[in-house]
Amino acid sequence: MLLRVEQCTAYRELLRGKIPTGRIPDKCLRISRNAKNQPIGTRTAAIADLEDLFMAHDSSLTGVERFLAPDDIIVSKTDTAGRITYANPIFLQIAGYTEEELLSKAHNIVRHPRMPRCVFKFLWDTIQGGDEVFAYVLNRAKNGDHYWVFAHVTPTRNSRGHICGYHSSRRAPDRAAIAAITPLYDMLLAEEAKHRTPREQWEASLQLLVKALQQRGLAYEEFIFTLSGAAV
Ligand SMILES: Cc1cc2nc3c(=O)[nH]c(=O)nc-3n(C[C@H](O)[C@H](O)[C@H](O)COP(=O)(O)O)c2cc1C
Repeated sequence: MLLRVEQCTAYRELLRGKIPTGRIPDKCLRISRNAKNQPIGTRTAAIADLEDLFMAHDSSLTGVERFLAPDDIIVSKTDTAGRITYANPIFLQIAGYTEEELLSKAHNIVRHPRMPRCVFKFLWDTIQGGDEVFAYVLNRAKNGDHYWVFAHVTPTRNSRGHICGYHSSRRAPDRAAIAAITPLYDMLLAEEAKHRTPREQWEASLQLLVKALQQRGLAYEEFIFTLSGAAV
């Protein structure tokens, strides 16, 4: 689908991070038309395209993907607030940081803007509730490259059984799973873009995620385990 964004005021404001994509007026989204002058694309698709363009202008992102080797495992540990207390050599290598740069930093240091907020909300609710969680996560390396992982995050407990931190191991994801989850994440991000505050954003996208799971008749974890090796 061919979509073009006009260099309008709203677009320039978007680039400066002043307005969320959801508030870009329709007139700023130029959608290609067929021979009968009927629009081919939707507003949602046009906004997704705009976001891609926006990312291309984000000098902190290169658009270059890094890949984990099949046997690589990225390991990190955090305190209860999500500050990194341990990072293994593979983590340092793929994310491009030194140990000193990561230790005691919030784990969102590797957060990529194309990750929906509701995924992290769900992740935190689950681990703070004492359970483990699996998720496909897109991360950002220090130089702006990106890498996908299949993450397993668990609470760490002390000898009295109290949660004293969190632990995550990540492996190379199945590419079919990434192909399957990307449209869902795009849909969640498009929903988040319609809202102003982070809280409003994750509340709205979490509702959409719950609906998407209900439509498939699957719990979150079941859904995650259906993705590997199969397109949804
Ligand atoms: C053990 C552990 C590992 C995490 N790993 C990642 C990660 O690899 N990438 C990431 O973006 N967030 C990760 N998070 C979640 C971050 O703490 C944070 O919630 C997320 O990056 C969203 O950041 P934000 O709330 O500032 O937008 C991890 C959290 C924990 C507890």
